[in-house]
Amino acid sequence: MKGLLLAGGHGTRLRPLTFTGNKHMLPIANKPMILYGLEHLIKAGVKEIGIILGPIKEGVVELLGDGSKYGVKIKYIDQPEPRGLAHAVLVSEEFLAGEPFVMYLGDNMLKQGVKPMLKQFEEGTYDCVIGVSEVRDPSRYGVVVFDDKKNIKKLVEKPKQPISKWALIGVYVFNEKILDAAKKIRPSWRGELEITDAIQLLLENNCKIGVQFVRGWWKDTGKPEDLLEANQLVLQDLKPANKGVVEEGATITGNVSIGKETVVRSRTTIRGPVIIGEHCEIGSNTYIGPYTSIGDHVTIRNSEVENSIVMEGAYIDCGKRITDSLIGREAKIIGFENNVPKGHKLVLGDMTYVSI
Ligand code: DAU
Repeated sequence: MKGLLLAGGHGTRLRPLTFTGNKHMLPIANKPMILYGLEHLIKAGVKEIGIILGPIKEGVVELLGDGSKYGVKIKYIDQPEPRGLAHAVLVSEEFLAGEPFVMYLGDNMLKQGVKPMLKQFEEGTYDCVIGVSEVRDPSRYGVVVFDDKKNIKKLVEKPKQPISKWALIGVYVFNEKILDAAKKIRPSWRGELEITDAIQLLLENNCKIGVQFVRGWWKDTGKPEDLLEANQLVLQDLKPANKGVVEEGATITGNVSIGKETVVRSRTTIRGPVIIGEHCEIGSNTYIGPYTSIGDHVTIRNSEVENSIVMEGAYIDCGKRITDSLIGREAKIIGFENNVPKGHKLVLGDMTYVSI
């Protein structure tokens, strides 16, 4: 059983954060998103993993290397343009070498991991096992339409009409038949070779498709608000830890994890779940509220931050409350209370979004 972890594409919907790096390197609870998928594959016993990389590779190869530090073999597969998930399978043909494989979309977060789907595939005589989860906004996903007996009637990518509430999650187990199907389909209206269309073709060819109704949460992190939601879901299970220094006069409640060499100054309140990386300075006169992740080397003073992701090296000293925000690496938010004329002074990158 091989693994195929997808980390290609342009990450357009997460700009400007993806101008300077691969989307799958963005942190969720202080861990690059791609590691969640990789760890699921490793836990399920997959030893050989192909990683699809597109034009933006920054960070992925440096982080994962040849896989030896994780006890697996990683091969990078180039997909110069994101021409669809079925196209990603086609460019991996040589790596897959006719073996069955788990395909994991690197922007998907799945509480249950991949083991249960692999087990279903291995215990049955399936050509493919798909996972589905109930959603409120089916038009964002591929969906599965079932009949009364929960047999698959059809699969449709991003349906315009709400024909099913069951979204296809971004984890699939396939045997070699998916390659033939991927070769036969045509690009969709959005110009991509859709994996959903390839699975539909398997269905039409009477292949055996297993369905798993996934347990626990599942999140596709396509948009900024999805990143915050994924961050919340992971932080729900955060274990408290303190490897730093908490000065007298600081108040910490709930589950809070503090990294090495981090100082929490007096007159600071932290209400968990909150994760803080290493070498940070938090406070004083600071409030950090629930569902906040703070990367390494961050300074936050005289400010309030809640339900946000603050990335490595950011500096916040603004006398304001920041909520529901994504703050990029080495971003600076500073207050100029005494400056005249008064006003917000902004240096914003292309496609930045600010709400003031
Ligand atoms: O998240 C589940 C959904 O993922 C499914 O319900 C849909 O059926 C499936 O098509 C897919 O939809 P998205 O529109 O969310 O896919 P997206 O373009 O965001 O790509 C998903 C991941 O795959 C992302 O990590 C980038 C990577 N990718 C994408 C394309 C199109 C590649 O590596 N290569 C590609 O060509």
